[in-house]
Amino acid sequence: LFAAVELAPRDPILGLNEQFNADPNPAKVNLGVGVYFDENGKLPLLRCVQQAEQAMAEAPKARNYLPIDGIAAYDAAVQKLVFGDSAAVRDGRIATVQALGGTGALKIGADLLHRMNPEAKVLISSPSWENHRALFESAGFVVSSYPYYDPATRGVDVDGMVGALEQAAPGTIVVLHACCHNPTGCDLLPADWDRVVAAVQSRNLVAFIDMAYQGFGDGIAEDGAAVHRFLEAGVGFFVSTSFSKSFSLYGERVGALSVVCESKEEAGRVLSQLKRVVRTNYSNPPTHGAQIVTNVLTSPELRALWEDELAGMRGRIKKMRAMLAERLQAAGSTMDTSFITRQRGMFSYSGLNAAQMQRLRDEFGVYGVDSGRICVAALNEGNIDAVVAAMVKVA
Ligand code: LMR
Repeated sequence: LFAAVELAPRDPILGLNEQFNADPNPAKVNLGVGVYFDENGKLPLLRCVQQAEQAMAEAPKARNYLPIDGIAAYDAAVQKLVFGDSAAVRDGRIATVQALGGTGALKIGADLLHRMNPEAKVLISSPSWENHRALFESAGFVVSSYPYYDPATRGVDVDGMVGALEQAAPGTIVVLHACCHNPTGCDLLPADWDRVVAAVQSRNLVAFIDMAYQGFGDGIAEDGAAVHRFLEAGVGFFVSTSFSKSFSLYGERVGALSVVCESKEEAGRVLSQLKRVVRTNYSNPPTHGAQIVTNVLTSPELRALWEDELAGMRGRIKKMRAMLAERLQAAGSTMDTSFITRQRGMFSYSGLNAAQMQRLRDEFGVYGVDSGRICVAALNEGNIDAVVAAMVKVA
């Protein structure tokens, strides 16, 4: 039956975890996957999560099926977090469904879009998160890219990006990173977003904003500003939300997809189609993680604690960026390392090529993605010197 089945390649990101786990090197460092580790190299269990779980354990509940679109209070809390106190929320113009992490939200959205317009083209940034292309291709789309990263400036090629959007066919789906661009860490400035929104609007494109790192750049409101620009423009668009990183709930798969529509009636129709997609994929979502997030977001005390803990993670990443830049210089690196502190979020696009990244793994046990992406959120004072020494050797 399976004689003709070919071996699939390892996943470029999660496959590194498998390789890392199998590596016997006691000094190994995992800077591959986008996961935040604390200063002791431990995955944090946030206090807000612990407290919410404790309260849940004290009042245990039986678990029936959830509605197809998830916990209603969760969907409402997501809308409030992502869209604030906006007219779109008040008017009921947004269709939100609980999803299996940010990836699950992207997949539900991609499937819905494919049912709506299978001929549409999809544009992702060059480069983008490795899974964007695979996800939209597996939904049936042809995927190409718009210019994004400019290696010469180690910043965003805004003219190239906007130029590509201005030439895209109407109906083209444009995948955008709200903040903390994955993999480059290079974000658009407010004035750049204005140009992107104008291009999307004038060409009748469909913006799909992936917001997996809200709160890891400059703050919850700052990182979500792009969403508000699209709201103000009055266009329909998609937003995928993930709480994997911001709640350190990777294994709970807590995310959401929101679709901003023109009217409440339209949102009702869109929601009915989203529910069809969910029902035919996994029926309805799981309870536990989404209940934790609901309880934290809707309790003033737990919400304040969460914001504080998120700010702590953000601050530590910034400290590690500064330390990485300084120590590379001190170790004799000839590169201009100022780009490291300009980048935002968990990742630094180091500029190292695939062969150099492979040497980092093989010779030093330092794991990063072949694109040159390293996860700064996994650096700490105990491993940074070894990482710096290895980077200087391979560069
Ligand atoms: C990453 O980019 O490392 C994360 O988003 C994890 C993943 O699913 O790839």
